[in-house]
Amino acid sequence: MKKIHLGIFDIQTPNQMTQGAWAHPENQSTRYRELPFWIELAQLCERGLFDFIFFADSYGYPVNKRELAYREAVYTPGLDPMLSISALAAATKRLAFVTTASPTYEAPYANARRFSTLDHLTGGRIGWNVVAAGGLSGAACFGRDQVLSHEERYDQAEEFLEVSYRLFEESWEEDAVNASRSERRYADASKVHLIDHEGKYFKVTASHACEPSPQRTPVLFQAGSSDRGRDFAAKHAEGIFLKAPTMEALKAQVQDIRGRAAKYGRNADELKIFTGLSAIVGETNEDAAHKLADFKAYSSREAALLTYENATGLDLAAMEPDAPFTGVQTEQGLTHTERYTKHKGHVLTVSQVMDNFAEKEFRGITVCGDAKTIADTMQKWIEHTGIDGFNLERYLLPGTVADFVNYVVPELQRRGVFRTSYEEVTLRERLFGNGKVKLPSTHPGASYRHNRSEEFSVD
Ligand SMILES: Cc1cc2nc3c(=O)[nH]c(=O)nc-3n(C[C@H](O)[C@H](O)[C@H](O)COP(=O)(O)O)c2cc1C
Repeated sequence: MKKIHLGIFDIQTPNQMTQGAWAHPENQSTRYRELPFWIELAQLCERGLFDFIFFADSYGYPVNKRELAYREAVYTPGLDPMLSISALAAATKRLAFVTTASPTYEAPYANARRFSTLDHLTGGRIGWNVVAAGGLSGAACFGRDQVLSHEERYDQAEEFLEVSYRLFEESWEEDAVNASRSERRYADASKVHLIDHEGKYFKVTASHACEPSPQRTPVLFQAGSSDRGRDFAAKHAEGIFLKAPTMEALKAQVQDIRGRAAKYGRNADELKIFTGLSAIVGETNEDAAHKLADFKAYSSREAALLTYENATGLDLAAMEPDAPFTGVQTEQGLTHTERYTKHKGHVLTVSQVMDNFAEKEFRGITVCGDAKTIADTMQKWIEHTGIDGFNLERYLLPGTVADFVNYVVPELQRRGVFRTSYEEVTLRERLFGNGKVKLPSTHPGASYRHNRSEEFSVD
Protein backbone atom coordinates (compact mmCIF):
# COMPACT_ATOMS: atom_id res chain seq x y z
CA MET A 1 0.00 0.00 0.00
CA LYS A 2 1.34 3.38 -1.03
CA LYS A 3 2.28 5.71 1.84
CA ILE A 4 0.35 8.97 2.03
CA HIS A 5 2.19 12.31 2.07
CA LEU A 6 0.71 15.04 4.26
CA GLY A 7 1.15 18.76 4.49
CA ILE A 8 -0.88 21.48 6.07
CA PHE A 9 -1.99 24.50 4.08
CA ASP A 10 -1.82 27.82 5.84
CA ILE A 11 -1.52 31.54 5.37
CA GLN A 12 -0.20 33.84 8.05
CA THR A 13 -3.42 35.77 8.42
CA PRO A 14 -6.28 35.65 10.93
CA ASN A 15 -8.67 34.27 8.36
CA GLN A 16 -8.67 31.83 5.52
CA MET A 17 -10.56 28.94 3.92
CA THR A 18 -13.73 29.67 5.86
CA GLN A 19 -14.04 33.43 5.73
CA GLY A 20 -15.45 34.59 9.03
CA ALA A 21 -13.90 31.71 10.98
CA TRP A 22 -11.49 34.12 12.68
CA ALA A 23 -14.43 35.15 14.92
CA HIS A 24 -14.99 31.62 16.26
CA PRO A 25 -14.21 31.64 20.01
CA GLU A 26 -11.95 28.59 19.77
CA ASN A 27 -10.00 29.86 16.81
CA GLN A 28 -6.59 31.10 17.91
CA SER A 29 -5.75 32.40 14.44
CA THR A 30 -5.79 36.01 15.66
CA ARG A 31 -2.51 35.05 17.35
CA TYR A 32 -0.97 34.86 13.86
CA ARG A 33 1.40 37.74 14.81
CA GLU A 34 3.02 35.73 17.60
CA LEU A 35 5.98 33.55 16.84
CA PRO A 36 5.08 31.08 19.65
CA PHE A 37 1.77 30.48 17.89
CA TRP A 38 3.52 29.24 14.73
CA ILE A 39 6.13 27.35 16.75
CA GLU A 40 3.36 25.50 18.62
CA LEU A 41 1.70 24.68 15.29
CA ALA A 42 4.96 23.47 13.73
CA GLN A 43 5.67 21.28 16.74
CA LEU A 44 2.15 19.88 16.55
CA CYS A 45 2.70 19.06 12.86
CA GLU A 46 5.99 17.42 13.71
CA ARG A 47 4.30 15.35 16.43
CA GLY A 48 1.88 14.24 13.69
CA LEU A 49 4.85 13.41 11.41
CA PHE A 50 3.58 15.69 8.65
CA ASP A 51 5.83 16.10 5.63
CA PHE A 52 5.63 19.88 5.63
CA ILE A 53 3.79 23.06 6.47
CA PHE A 54 2.87 24.93 3.32
CA PHE A 55 2.49 28.70 3.53
CA ALA A 56 0.60 30.38 0.71
CA ASP A 57 1.33 34.06 0.22
CA SER A 58 0.35 36.93 -2.04
CA TYR A 59 0.60 40.68 -2.37
CA GLY A 60 -2.32 43.07 -2.40
CA TYR A 61 -5.81 42.76 -1.00
CA PRO A 62 -9.32 43.49 -2.29
CA VAL A 63 -9.00 47.28 -2.63
CA ASN A 64 -12.41 47.70 -4.26
CA LYS A 65 -14.19 46.74 -1.04
CA ARG A 66 -11.92 48.08 1.64
CA GLU A 67 -14.50 48.32 4.41
CA LEU A 68 -15.43 44.64 4.07
CA ALA A 69 -11.83 43.54 3.52
CA TYR A 70 -10.66 45.10 6.80
CA ARG A 71 -13.81 44.29 8.75
CA GLU A 72 -13.61 40.58 7.94
CA ALA A 73 -9.81 40.37 7.55
CA VAL A 74 -10.01 39.19 3.93
CA TYR A 75 -6.38 38.66 2.88
CA THR A 76 -5.36 41.50 5.14
CA PRO A 77 -3.61 42.00 7.49
CA GLY A 78 -0.97 39.31 7.16
CA LEU A 79 2.70 38.48 7.66
CA ASP A 80 5.48 37.44 5.31
CA PRO A 81 5.67 33.72 6.14
CA MET A 82 9.24 33.36 4.90
CA LEU A 83 10.55 35.36 7.83
CA SER A 84 9.27 32.87 10.39
CA ILE A 85 10.75 29.78 8.78
CA SER A 86 14.21 29.72 10.30
CA ALA A 87 12.64 30.11 13.76
CA LEU A 88 10.23 27.26 13.02
CA ALA A 89 13.08 25.13 11.76
CA ALA A 90 15.01 25.77 14.98
CA ALA A 91 12.01 24.59 17.01
CA THR A 92 11.63 21.36 14.98
CA LYS A 93 14.00 18.71 13.69
CA ARG A 94 12.42 17.09 10.68
CA LEU A 95 9.32 19.00 9.62
CA ALA A 96 9.82 20.76 6.27
CA PHE A 97 8.50 24.12 5.09
CA VAL A 98 7.16 25.14 1.71
CA THR A 99 6.66 28.82 1.09
CA THR A 100 5.51 30.97 -1.76
CA ALA A 101 7.39 33.49 -3.90
CA SER A 102 6.00 34.82 -7.15
CA PRO A 103 8.08 35.46 -10.29
CA THR A 104 5.56 38.20 -11.06
CA TYR A 105 6.93 40.36 -8.26
CA GLU A 106 10.25 39.07 -6.95
CA ALA A 107 13.74 39.66 -8.30
CA PRO A 108 15.38 36.33 -9.15
CA TYR A 109 18.73 37.10 -7.54
CA ALA A 110 17.29 38.18 -4.18
CA ASN A 111 14.79 35.32 -4.26
CA ALA A 112 17.49 32.72 -4.91
CA ARG A 113 19.58 34.13 -2.07
CA ARG A 114 16.63 33.86 0.32
CA PHE A 115 15.82 30.27 -0.63
CA SER A 116 19.45 29.16 -0.50
CA THR A 117 19.74 30.82 2.91
CA LEU A 118 16.70 28.91 4.11
CA ASP A 119 17.97 25.68 2.58
CA HIS A 120 21.19 26.12 4.58
CA LEU A 121 19.50 27.18 7.80
CA THR A 122 16.88 24.42 7.70
CA GLY A 123 19.34 21.72 6.63
CA GLY A 124 17.49 21.10 3.37
CA ARG A 125 13.93 21.27 4.67
CA ILE A 126 12.66 23.91 2.27
CA GLY A 127 10.38 24.05 -0.76
CA TRP A 128 9.33 26.94 -3.01
CA ASN A 129 5.77 27.35 -4.30
CA VAL A 130 6.19 29.15 -7.63
CA VAL A 131 3.05 31.16 -8.38
CA ALA A 132 2.54 33.13 -11.58
CA ALA A 133 0.36 35.51 -9.60
CA GLY A 134 -1.72 38.26 -11.15
CA GLY A 135 -3.90 40.91 -9.61
CA LEU A 136 -4.16 44.68 -9.87
CA SER A 137 -3.80 45.43 -6.18
CA GLY A 138 -0.66 43.28 -6.02
CA ALA A 139 0.76 45.05 -9.08
CA ALA A 140 0.04 48.46 -7.54
CA CYS A 141 2.19 47.54 -4.51
CA PHE A 142 5.12 47.53 -6.91
CA GLY A 143 4.18 50.70 -8.76
CA ARG A 144 2.71 48.92 -11.76
CA ASP A 145 -0.61 50.05 -13.15
CA GLN A 146 -1.33 46.89 -15.03
CA VAL A 147 -0.94 43.18 -14.76
CA LEU A 148 0.86 41.13 -17.38
CA SER A 149 -1.47 38.84 -19.30
CA HIS A 150 -1.91 35.28 -18.05
CA GLU A 151 0.29 33.94 -20.87
CA GLU A 152 3.00 36.49 -20.30
CA ARG A 153 3.12 35.79 -16.57
CA TYR A 154 3.95 32.17 -17.35
CA ASP A 155 6.59 33.29 -19.91
CA GLN A 156 8.08 35.47 -17.21
CA ALA A 157 7.94 32.62 -14.70
CA GLU A 158 9.81 30.38 -17.19
CA GLU A 159 12.58 32.92 -17.51
CA PHE A 160 12.64 33.47 -13.75
CA LEU A 161 13.22 29.75 -13.23
CA GLU A 162 15.97 29.67 -15.85
CA VAL A 163 17.85 32.39 -13.95
CA SER A 164 17.14 30.67 -10.64
CA TYR A 165 18.48 27.31 -11.88
CA ARG A 166 21.64 29.01 -13.08
CA LEU A 167 22.15 30.58 -9.66
CA PHE A 168 21.29 27.45 -7.68
CA GLU A 169 22.92 24.84 -9.89
CA GLU A 170 25.50 26.40 -12.19
CA SER A 171 27.15 29.24 -10.34
CA TRP A 172 29.05 27.26 -7.71
CA GLU A 173 30.78 24.00 -8.50
CA GLU A 174 30.33 21.37 -5.84
CA ASP A 175 33.92 21.56 -4.62
CA ALA A 176 34.33 25.34 -4.88
CA VAL A 177 34.51 25.65 -1.10
CA ASN A 178 37.06 23.81 0.95
CA ALA A 179 37.45 26.34 3.78
CA SER A 180 41.01 25.21 4.25
CA ARG A 181 42.68 27.05 7.12
CA SER A 182 46.08 25.55 6.33
CA GLU A 183 45.92 26.71 2.69
CA ARG A 184 44.25 29.90 3.82
CA ARG A 185 41.61 29.60 1.12
CA TYR A 186 37.90 29.58 1.78
CA ALA A 187 36.65 29.23 -1.79
CA ASP A 188 38.30 28.76 -5.18
CA ALA A 189 37.23 31.63 -7.45
CA SER A 190 37.85 29.55 -10.57
CA LYS A 191 35.00 27.28 -9.46
CA VAL A 192 32.51 30.06 -8.80
CA HIS A 193 30.97 31.15 -12.07
CA LEU A 194 29.38 34.36 -13.13
CA ILE A 195 25.83 34.09 -14.45
CA ASP A 196 25.34 36.46 -17.33
CA HIS A 197 21.68 36.43 -18.20
CA GLU A 198 19.87 38.89 -20.41
CA GLY A 199 16.33 37.96 -21.37
CA LYS A 200 13.00 39.58 -22.02
CA TYR A 201 12.16 40.15 -18.36
CA PHE A 202 15.36 39.86 -16.35
CA LYS A 203 19.00 40.87 -16.60
CA VAL A 204 21.30 39.34 -14.03
CA THR A 205 25.09 39.48 -13.98
CA ALA A 206 26.23 37.87 -10.77
CA SER A 207 27.57 34.83 -9.05
CA HIS A 208 25.15 33.28 -6.62
CA ALA A 209 25.51 34.85 -3.19
CA CYS A 210 25.35 31.52 -1.36
CA GLU A 211 27.61 28.52 -1.55
CA PRO A 212 25.83 25.27 -2.48
CA SER A 213 23.11 24.39 0.00
CA PRO A 214 21.97 20.84 0.79
CA GLN A 215 19.29 20.63 -1.89
CA ARG A 216 20.65 23.47 -4.10
CA THR A 217 17.32 24.10 -5.85
CA PRO A 218 14.57 24.06 -3.20
CA VAL A 219 11.85 21.48 -3.87
CA LEU A 220 9.62 23.18 -6.44
CA PHE A 221 5.86 23.34 -5.91
CA GLN A 222 3.16 24.77 -8.15
CA ALA A 223 -0.59 25.24 -7.90
CA GLY A 224 -2.05 26.76 -11.08
CA SER A 225 -4.37 24.41 -12.90
CA SER A 226 -5.05 26.35 -16.10
CA ASP A 227 -3.72 24.71 -19.27
CA ARG A 228 -0.57 26.80 -19.18
CA GLY A 229 -0.25 26.29 -15.42
CA ARG A 230 -0.37 22.53 -15.81
CA ASP A 231 2.24 22.62 -18.51
CA PHE A 232 4.49 24.70 -16.29
CA ALA A 233 3.92 22.25 -13.44
CA ALA A 234 4.63 19.25 -15.66
CA LYS A 235 7.95 20.75 -16.70
CA HIS A 236 9.21 22.16 -13.40
CA ALA A 237 7.21 21.16 -10.35
CA GLU A 238 8.10 18.34 -8.02
CA GLY A 239 5.10 18.91 -5.76
CA ILE A 240 1.80 19.91 -7.35
CA PHE A 241 -1.37 21.13 -5.68
CA LEU A 242 -4.50 20.24 -7.63
CA LYS A 243 -8.15 20.64 -6.78
CA ALA A 244 -11.17 19.27 -8.58
CA PRO A 245 -14.83 18.81 -7.66
CA THR A 246 -15.02 15.07 -8.37
CA MET A 247 -12.76 12.04 -8.27
CA GLU A 248 -13.06 11.63 -12.03
CA ALA A 249 -12.07 15.25 -12.66
CA LEU A 250 -9.08 14.98 -10.33
CA LYS A 251 -8.00 11.70 -11.87
CA ALA A 252 -8.11 13.31 -15.32
CA GLN A 253 -5.99 16.23 -14.12
CA VAL A 254 -3.46 13.87 -12.54
CA GLN A 255 -3.20 11.81 -15.71
CA ASP A 256 -2.93 14.92 -17.83
CA ILE A 257 -0.07 16.33 -15.71
CA ARG A 258 1.83 13.05 -15.56
CA GLY A 259 1.41 12.64 -19.32
CA ARG A 260 2.74 16.14 -19.96
CA ALA A 261 5.67 15.46 -17.61
CA ALA A 262 6.58 12.39 -19.64
CA LYS A 263 6.75 14.61 -22.73
CA TYR A 264 9.34 16.69 -20.90
CA GLY A 265 11.35 13.52 -20.31
CA ARG A 266 10.44 13.24 -16.64
CA ASN A 267 9.33 10.09 -14.84
CA ALA A 268 5.81 9.88 -13.42
CA ASP A 269 7.16 9.28 -9.91
CA GLU A 270 9.20 12.49 -9.99
CA LEU A 271 6.01 14.45 -9.32
CA LYS A 272 4.08 14.22 -6.09
CA ILE A 273 0.53 15.43 -6.42
CA PHE A 274 -1.50 16.79 -3.52
CA THR A 275 -5.07 17.87 -3.14
CA GLY A 276 -6.69 19.90 -0.41
CA LEU A 277 -8.39 18.12 2.47
CA SER A 278 -10.80 19.82 4.82
CA ALA A 279 -11.33 17.26 7.55
CA ILE A 280 -13.72 17.89 10.40
CA VAL A 281 -12.83 15.19 12.85
CA GLY A 282 -14.85 14.08 15.84
CA GLU A 283 -14.74 11.18 18.25
CA THR A 284 -17.93 10.08 16.52
CA ASN A 285 -19.62 11.03 13.24
CA GLU A 286 -22.32 12.94 15.19
CA ASP A 287 -19.72 14.84 17.13
CA ALA A 288 -18.02 15.85 13.85
CA ALA A 289 -21.34 16.92 12.30
CA HIS A 290 -21.95 19.22 15.27
CA LYS A 291 -18.52 20.75 14.83
CA LEU A 292 -19.16 21.42 11.15
CA ALA A 293 -22.50 23.10 11.90
CA ASP A 294 -20.80 25.21 14.52
CA PHE A 295 -18.01 26.31 12.11
CA LYS A 296 -20.53 27.17 9.43
CA ALA A 297 -22.42 29.44 11.81
CA TYR A 298 -19.41 31.76 11.72
CA SER A 299 -18.88 31.81 7.95
CA SER A 300 -19.38 35.04 6.02
CA ARG A 301 -20.86 34.80 2.54
CA GLU A 302 -19.92 38.37 1.60
CA ALA A 303 -16.31 37.80 2.69
CA ALA A 304 -16.18 34.49 0.81
CA LEU A 305 -17.37 36.17 -2.39
CA LEU A 306 -14.74 38.83 -1.90
CA THR A 307 -12.02 36.17 -1.90
CA TYR A 308 -13.45 34.96 -5.23
CA GLU A 309 -13.26 38.48 -6.60
CA ASN A 310 -9.71 38.85 -5.37
CA ALA A 311 -8.60 35.60 -7.02
CA THR A 312 -10.40 36.06 -10.32
CA GLY A 313 -11.16 39.77 -10.73
CA LEU A 314 -14.88 38.87 -11.02
CA ASP A 315 -17.48 40.48 -8.76
CA LEU A 316 -20.19 37.81 -8.93
CA ALA A 317 -22.67 39.90 -6.93
CA ALA A 318 -22.54 42.59 -9.64
CA MET A 319 -23.39 40.09 -12.39
CA GLU A 320 -26.88 39.09 -13.53
CA PRO A 321 -27.75 36.19 -11.16
CA ASP A 322 -29.63 34.09 -13.73
CA ALA A 323 -27.08 34.59 -16.50
CA PRO A 324 -25.13 31.51 -17.57
CA PHE A 325 -21.60 31.43 -16.16
CA THR A 326 -19.92 30.98 -19.52
CA GLY A 327 -17.46 32.92 -21.61
CA VAL A 328 -16.06 34.69 -18.54
CA GLN A 329 -12.87 36.55 -19.31
CA THR A 330 -10.14 37.27 -16.82
CA GLU A 331 -6.40 37.78 -17.00
CA GLN A 332 -6.05 36.74 -13.35
CA GLY A 333 -5.82 33.13 -12.22
CA LEU A 334 -8.05 30.84 -14.28
CA THR A 335 -8.29 27.99 -11.80
CA HIS A 336 -11.42 29.33 -10.12
CA THR A 337 -13.28 30.28 -13.28
CA GLU A 338 -12.47 26.99 -14.99
CA ARG A 339 -13.58 25.01 -11.93
CA TYR A 340 -17.12 26.11 -12.87
CA THR A 341 -16.86 26.17 -16.64
CA LYS A 342 -14.85 23.05 -17.36
CA HIS A 343 -15.61 20.36 -14.82
CA LYS A 344 -19.32 20.35 -14.12
CA GLY A 345 -20.57 18.90 -17.40
CA HIS A 346 -23.42 21.43 -17.50
CA VAL A 347 -23.69 25.21 -17.50
CA LEU A 348 -24.19 26.89 -14.12
CA THR A 349 -25.87 30.23 -13.53
CA VAL A 350 -24.03 33.02 -11.77
CA SER A 351 -26.14 32.53 -8.64
CA GLN A 352 -25.32 28.79 -8.60
CA VAL A 353 -21.64 29.66 -8.81
CA MET A 354 -22.09 32.09 -5.92
CA ASP A 355 -23.85 29.50 -3.78
CA ASN A 356 -21.27 26.86 -4.54
CA PHE A 357 -18.34 29.12 -3.86
CA ALA A 358 -19.83 30.59 -0.67
CA GLU A 359 -20.25 27.02 0.58
CA LYS A 360 -16.93 25.53 -0.51
CA GLU A 361 -14.63 28.54 -0.94
CA PHE A 362 -11.16 27.34 -1.90
CA ARG A 363 -11.48 24.08 -0.03
CA GLY A 364 -10.56 20.74 -1.48
CA ILE A 365 -12.28 17.52 -0.42
CA THR A 366 -14.50 18.17 2.57
CA VAL A 367 -15.10 15.24 4.86
CA CYS A 368 -16.70 15.19 8.25
CA GLY A 369 -16.68 12.23 10.62
CA ASP A 370 -14.69 10.03 12.95
CA ALA A 371 -11.13 8.92 12.22
CA LYS A 372 -12.30 5.86 10.31
CA THR A 373 -14.54 7.92 8.02
CA ILE A 374 -11.72 10.37 7.29
CA ALA A 375 -9.12 7.66 6.67
CA ASP A 376 -11.52 5.72 4.40
CA THR A 377 -12.13 8.85 2.33
CA MET A 378 -8.43 9.64 2.04
CA GLN A 379 -7.60 6.13 0.90
CA LYS A 380 -10.43 6.13 -1.62
CA TRP A 381 -9.21 9.37 -3.23
CA ILE A 382 -5.63 8.12 -3.31
CA GLU A 383 -6.65 4.84 -4.95
CA HIS A 384 -9.05 6.33 -7.49
CA THR A 385 -7.20 9.43 -8.58
CA GLY A 386 -3.49 8.61 -8.41
CA ILE A 387 -2.66 11.54 -6.11
CA ASP A 388 0.10 11.10 -3.54
CA GLY A 389 -1.18 13.08 -0.62
CA PHE A 390 -3.15 15.88 0.94
CA ASN A 391 -2.80 19.39 2.24
CA LEU A 392 -4.88 19.71 5.40
CA GLU A 393 -6.92 22.91 5.40
CA ARG A 394 -7.92 24.72 8.55
CA TYR A 395 -11.21 25.57 10.13
CA LEU A 396 -9.70 26.44 13.48
CA LEU A 397 -6.09 26.79 14.49
CA PRO A 398 -4.68 24.80 16.07
CA GLY A 399 -7.87 22.77 16.65
CA THR A 400 -8.22 21.37 13.11
CA VAL A 401 -4.63 20.17 13.09
CA ALA A 402 -4.77 18.86 16.67
CA ASP A 403 -7.87 16.77 15.92
CA PHE A 404 -6.21 15.33 12.83
CA VAL A 405 -2.97 14.53 14.67
CA ASN A 406 -4.75 13.00 17.65
CA TYR A 407 -7.37 10.93 15.83
CA VAL A 408 -6.60 10.46 12.13
CA VAL A 409 -2.82 10.02 12.11
CA PRO A 410 -2.95 6.96 14.46
CA GLU A 411 -5.70 5.47 12.29
CA LEU A 412 -3.62 5.93 9.11
CA GLN A 413 -0.62 4.43 10.88
CA ARG A 414 -2.67 1.42 12.00
CA ARG A 415 -3.56 0.88 8.36
CA GLY A 416 0.10 1.04 7.36
CA VAL A 417 -0.43 4.00 5.01
CA PHE A 418 1.41 6.67 6.97
CA ARG A 419 4.91 6.84 8.44
CA THR A 420 5.50 6.02 12.11
CA SER A 421 8.75 7.99 12.28
CA TYR A 422 10.69 10.38 10.11
CA GLU A 423 13.32 8.55 8.12
CA GLU A 424 14.64 11.28 5.86
CA VAL A 425 16.23 14.62 6.56
CA THR A 426 15.67 16.82 3.52
CA LEU A 427 12.31 17.60 1.97
CA ARG A 428 13.27 16.15 -1.41
CA GLU A 429 14.26 12.87 0.22
CA ARG A 430 11.00 12.82 2.20
CA LEU A 431 9.06 13.01 -1.05
CA PHE A 432 11.26 10.91 -3.30
CA GLY A 433 13.35 8.65 -1.07
CA ASN A 434 16.60 8.58 0.85
CA GLY A 435 19.62 9.87 -1.05
CA LYS A 436 17.56 11.95 -3.49
CA VAL A 437 18.64 15.26 -2.06
CA LYS A 438 19.22 17.14 -5.31
CA LEU A 439 17.12 17.56 -8.45
CA PRO A 440 16.97 14.35 -10.48
CA SER A 441 18.95 14.37 -13.71
CA THR A 442 15.73 14.41 -15.78
CA HIS A 443 14.68 17.77 -14.34
CA PRO A 444 15.32 20.86 -16.51
CA GLY A 445 17.19 22.53 -13.63
CA ALA A 446 19.74 19.71 -13.60
CA SER A 447 20.96 20.61 -17.09
CA TYR A 448 22.76 23.64 -15.64
CA ARG A 449 25.06 21.60 -13.42
CA HIS A 450 28.80 21.27 -13.75
CA ASN A 451 30.37 17.81 -13.80
CA ARG A 452 26.99 16.24 -14.27
CA SER A 453 28.24 12.73 -14.83
CA GLU A 454 30.51 12.80 -11.77
CA GLU A 455 28.26 14.54 -9.33
CA PHE A 456 24.84 13.18 -10.03
CA SER A 457 23.86 9.76 -11.15
CA VAL A 458 20.62 9.12 -12.97
CA ASP A 459 18.02 8.56 -10.27
C1 LIG B 1 -2.94 24.67 -2.70
C2 LIG B 1 -2.93 25.97 -3.44
C3 LIG B 1 -2.05 26.95 -3.03
C4 LIG B 1 -2.00 28.18 -3.67
N1 LIG B 1 -1.14 29.10 -3.21
C5 LIG B 1 -1.14 30.34 -3.75
C6 LIG B 1 -0.30 31.34 -3.22
O1 LIG B 1 0.42 31.12 -2.27
N2 LIG B 1 -0.33 32.57 -3.79
C7 LIG B 1 -1.15 32.86 -4.85
O2 LIG B 1 -1.13 34.00 -5.32
N3 LIG B 1 -1.95 31.90 -5.36
C8 LIG B 1 -1.96 30.67 -4.83
N4 LIG B 1 -2.78 29.70 -5.34
C9 LIG B 1 -3.63 30.01 -6.47
C10 LIG B 1 -2.98 29.74 -7.80
O3 LIG B 1 -1.72 29.14 -7.76
C11 LIG B 1 -2.80 31.07 -8.50
O4 LIG B 1 -3.98 31.77 -8.45
C12 LIG B 1 -2.37 30.92 -9.92
O5 LIG B 1 -2.00 32.19 -10.36
C13 LIG B 1 -3.48 30.38 -10.81
O6 LIG B 1 -2.89 29.97 -11.93
P1 LIG B 1 -3.71 29.44 -13.18
O7 LIG B 1 -4.33 30.61 -13.84
O8 LIG B 1 -2.67 28.79 -14.02
O9 LIG B 1 -4.72 28.45 -12.70
C14 LIG B 1 -2.85 28.45 -4.73
C15 LIG B 1 -3.73 27.45 -5.19
C16 LIG B 1 -3.78 26.23 -4.53
C17 LIG B 1 -4.72 25.19 -5.02
